[in-house]
Amino acid sequence: MKIPKRLSPLIEDGIIDEVVGEVKSGKEAQVYVVRCGDELRCAKVYKDANNRSFKQAVQYQEGRSVKNSRTARAIGKRTRFGQKEAEASWISAEVDALYKLTAAGVRVPKPFGFFDGVLIMELIVDADGNPAPRLNDLSLETGVAREYHQILIRQIVRMLASGIIHGDLSEFNVLVDAGGPVIIDLPQAVNAGGNNSASMMLDRDVRNMAEYFGAFAPELLATEYGKEIWAVYEQGKLTPDTEFTGVFRGNQLEANVGGVLAAIKDARLEHEEKILKKTEWGR
Ligand SMILES: Nc1ncnc2c1ncn2[C@@H]1O[C@H](COP(=O)(O)OP(=O)(O)O)[C@@H](O)[C@H]1O
Ligand SMILES: [Mg+2]
Repeated sequence: MKIPKRLSPLIEDGIIDEVVGEVKSGKEAQVYVVRCGDELRCAKVYKDANNRSFKQAVQYQEGRSVKNSRTARAIGKRTRFGQKEAEASWISAEVDALYKLTAAGVRVPKPFGFFDGVLIMELIVDADGNPAPRLNDLSLETGVAREYHQILIRQIVRMLASGIIHGDLSEFNVLVDAGGPVIIDLPQAVNAGGNNSASMMLDRDVRNMAEYFGAFAPELLATEYGKEIWAVYEQGKLTPDTEFTGVFRGNQLEANVGGVLAAIKDARLEHEEKILKKTEWGR
């Protein structure tokens, strides 16, 4: 195919040898199949800032580390240098997250590097060697839906144990290859420890999964993994292998609070009754 403008510097530098085809033009990026030597890989070209939507929202940026204080000040003041730096740090966030998550044993595409604003990563393929389908493209049997849901909960836990929340997890950002689900699309990845919206984002990611798989296995709709996982993380006790049930113990706590309140009410009524009797006697 004709070489897209943004990929020609990579051809010139010998980072890729050929552009084989386009996988998909998504909301925020164009994704190509490229050949590097005798291997097919995936090249993700980010659209420029004006053509991107919510993922750049400040909510996601909070808690990200920035190169130095001059850069941080410039980003804060939205100077032209600051905007350029903000853009650069936004697009390099995905490659950073992929390296971190690969090292942590999360199933994401293996990254090969970030060149001229283009991410080169492993191409996730189906049984025929074509780009793998997204969860959204599949219709699942109940048993498979339950299994994939469990696998993804485990992956979410593993991600959080290394300090990362996806932030835009949905059936559109999970591919399925012969080995099962693979999580993709992480430029908005959230630093769990330094972001005030972290628990909300975790809960939303988890809920999206429950809702998608719940269409095939309705009992998943009632699970509360998000709150259960966050409670353990907040106590500093989360490990990649912590087990979860989907039942949030906080509910028991609420039930106990309810019990305590009822006891207080009983005691108050009893007390009032006594006073009433006293006054009756007093008469
Ligand atoms: N590593 C990959 N292997 C195969 N297909 C991919 C890979 N990364 C992305 N894709 C395909 O490209 C689409 C868009 O990529 P994504 O990272 O989700 O960007 P966005 O949704 O922000 O445009 C995905 O839905 C998927 O179909
Ligand atoms: Mg996507």
